[in-house]
Amino acid sequence: MTKKSAQLLIALLILSLLTLTGCASSELTLEAIQKKGSITIATSPDFPPFESLENTDVVGIELDIWNIICDKLGVELDVRQMAFDSILPAVQTGKIDAGVAGISIDEKRQKNVLFTDPYCLAAQAIVVTSTSPITCKADLADKNISVQSGTTAESCCMGEGYTFSSYESNNDAQMALTSGKVDAWVIDDLTAAEMVSAYNEDNPGSPLIVLPEAMTSEPYAFAFAYGNEELVGHINAIIDEMIEDGTIASIFEKYGLIYFSPEK
Ligand code: ARG
Repeated sequence: MTKKSAQLLIALLILSLLTLTGCASSELTLEAIQKKGSITIATSPDFPPFESLENTDVVGIELDIWNIICDKLGVELDVRQMAFDSILPAVQTGKIDAGVAGISIDEKRQKNVLFTDPYCLAAQAIVVTSTSPITCKADLADKNISVQSGTTAESCCMGEGYTFSSYESNNDAQMALTSGKVDAWVIDDLTAAEMVSAYNEDNPGSPLIVLPEAMTSEPYAFAFAYGNEELVGHINAIIDEMIEDGTIASIFEKYGLIYFSPEK
């Protein structure tokens, strides 16, 4: 190694150390984000009615909730888009302030990220074609299933020992079913209902069906990095108030949904 490349290597090492320590110490307090003037959230807008794209805007239940949270905190909402399986790592490393993507609280994730209080309750559902012999969870044992990468649908199928293929977006997981690549698609219930009804409107001759048997019960919350407990405390107070005063229920109603509040 030449002297010059050794110097370059040392400079790079110092830089990466600085970046690492910078991340670890960038605590998001209420005061810090108010000074910054905004909060940056990441989402995967392939999850209606929680988040989807309307032209280039991300819209949905969670955006409505976050617009209110940001109003109350006195900051602007800055929305970034990324694949679902990149969101929690980006939260953990401090690249973004919060993950807002219909994220279910689960024990494994709780080791890595700090969840807010949950704001609703969902479940994993099974979607099949109308001609499918699959009518319940027990029929999935020897079948091929599609799921979105990094989701609880994926970990649920893994836990059950099912054969599954993971797709980066929910639309691709749906297409795997409609094109006959897989026999079933596992996805969160409310999104299943929304995506299936949109699909069936366009394809009345070959509709999809959401089976009535739920596979899990999962509370949704927002994910922050550990170290941000003070800010999350303020956000929890806002979420709890929005649950209690019916704000969240009325947002669900706006999207034509019945609201199930989570157990805390
Ligand atoms: N609730 C599920 C999970 O946490 C799925 C979330 C998928 N979200 C999305 N925006 N595509 O894994």
